[in-house]
Amino acid sequence: MCGIVGYIGMRDAKEVLLEGLARLEYRGYDSAGVAFLDNENNLYVEKQVGKISVLRNAVFRRFHNKCFSLGIGHTRWATHGGVTQENAHPHVSASGRIALVHNGIIENYMALKQYLVKEGYHFVSETDTEVLVHLIEDFYKREGNRNLQSAVMEALKLVEGTYGIAVISVDEPYKIVAARNGSPLVIGIGEKEMFVASDVNALLAYTRHVIYLEDKELVVLKSERYKAYDLDYQRIDKEVVKVEWDINAIELGKHETYMEKEIFEQPEAIRNALRGRVVIEEGMVKFGGLNMTEEEIRRISRIVITACGTSWHAALIGKYLIERFGEIPVEVDYASEFRYRNPILKEGDLVIVISQSGETADTLEALREAKRKGVRVLGLTNVVGSTIARESDGGIYLHAGPEIGVASTKAFTNQVVSLILFAIYLGRLKNMSLYEGQRLLKELSLVPEKIQQILEQQDTIKKIAEKYHEAKNFLYLGRGVNYPVALEGALKLKEISYIHAEGYPAAEMKHGPIALIDEFMPVVFIAPRDALYEKVVSNIHEVKARHGKVIAILSDKDDHVLRYVDDALYIPQTMEEFSPLLTVVPLQMMAYHIARIKGLDVDKPRNLAKSVTVE
Ligand code: G6P
Repeated sequence: MCGIVGYIGMRDAKEVLLEGLARLEYRGYDSAGVAFLDNENNLYVEKQVGKISVLRNAVFRRFHNKCFSLGIGHTRWATHGGVTQENAHPHVSASGRIALVHNGIIENYMALKQYLVKEGYHFVSETDTEVLVHLIEDFYKREGNRNLQSAVMEALKLVEGTYGIAVISVDEPYKIVAARNGSPLVIGIGEKEMFVASDVNALLAYTRHVIYLEDKELVVLKSERYKAYDLDYQRIDKEVVKVEWDINAIELGKHETYMEKEIFEQPEAIRNALRGRVVIEEGMVKFGGLNMTEEEIRRISRIVITACGTSWHAALIGKYLIERFGEIPVEVDYASEFRYRNPILKEGDLVIVISQSGETADTLEALREAKRKGVRVLGLTNVVGSTIARESDGGIYLHAGPEIGVASTKAFTNQVVSLILFAIYLGRLKNMSLYEGQRLLKELSLVPEKIQQILEQQDTIKKIAEKYHEAKNFLYLGRGVNYPVALEGALKLKEISYIHAEGYPAAEMKHGPIALIDEFMPVVFIAPRDALYEKVVSNIHEVKARHGKVIAILSDKDDHVLRYVDDALYIPQTMEEFSPLLTVVPLQMMAYHIARIKGLDVDKPRNLAKSVTVE
């Protein structure tokens, strides 16, 4: 969702904020703004509709001869109110003395707005955020414009909803007050300089020493020090954490887009997820953070996996794997559905939440619901220190490195790898033999090299993309463990190319989707040689009999169906259970090239956000 950034120190805040916002742009990109204070305590605000580059040009045009040591910035993904300059942040108080950026949703903003309107405050935007800046000013004035920290604290006590905020005032020009509840906020600690941001990507160019704020915590930043408090003015000691990722991990390097870079990083990302966890001699997997004894693991009688979007597709694959290797029944639920039912959870259940960002609001709430019901939660997240990572009882980090492209790629494959490892681990604690454990783990360690071979088929994939990029609809079909891959392939295509696409279990085609098939309908079949191969081949015949166009993902050297399909992409042989790690890659690449041929921004597709921190 939205991204915020703030800076106080000796550098030019213009550069730091615009650089930071560009790093956060994947969180929201319909409009953006910055506010600066200069040495004479003037407040300057610049906001623009459009991408960060539009804001950058406007800021450098307007302030080319000015240098600021303090500022806050925001990149927006509209929730309340349309995409306009007025609705963009920072929002400024009626007196023009306070500026604020906000990520999250103020749920009781109507009630607060009514109160403020009665008090004479005039609203200029349609956002929920604007109530916050007026409310803070209301308290600030009462204290003679002297104590921004306490004005923010008092205002936040009246607020229901989620927020990550950064606030500055011309009356206290040497500080930033920041607070969080539900929306992530990280403080970067430098040499005589401080940063605040929605995530570490915005800070990595300057520091790797950070503190993560918890809900209902507030921090006062000055260039030389920070102080953290709860909302009752009690000081809190925060741990300073060193971030593992470095700036190179978020640079594009030789790639034109982050999505391409991240697709190509998959072999390395998988090696990172396996490193230190696989003990081939023992046919066993070692995890550092499950926080469960082997005895507790053996007592798990049911697993519920919950997630959103691409992570939900990984969860569906996880069901297959855990039931197959771990012999434990698994249910999979959309996090947004799970939390609004009465999910029946009982002793012996384990809930697994999967989230690349570790911040998705629905997934986080599903986690909290499970914990309220007394059930242990395991979090699979990519972002170290994210809220889901911190609130889970135990976890498995994905180790995919930062994922910037909005459409998830390497995080998905690492989610599947983590689930494979977990399933093998469960199996080995139950009935899986040493030999079987060794066999699986050896095969898994060959997967990165096999993905590399698929990446080398880029030119063939580009040609297929050229051929089909004008299609209006696509159907993706797969079975068994590759049915979720069909869903994921369809999601990738619609997310970034805006072509309508549906994923279906191949055998279900005849119960409906077959009616759609004609010579204009490309149908992507995921048909590696596995137990269901022959059945999928019959479905290919059914499509061809109706003049559909077939693009097939086939196992190497499979020329058996070649004469029935229009186009084929090959994946190296692997075990059926690991095949999603390979079959998904050509689908990611095909979606990527179709979108690029159509001239679309694959890293920031319209209307989407990388991490959805509102319901
Ligand atoms: C957003 C993104 C998707 C992502 C989903 C879940 O909708 O656009 O790519 O799969 O959120 O995100 P998470 O960070 O929880 O995996």
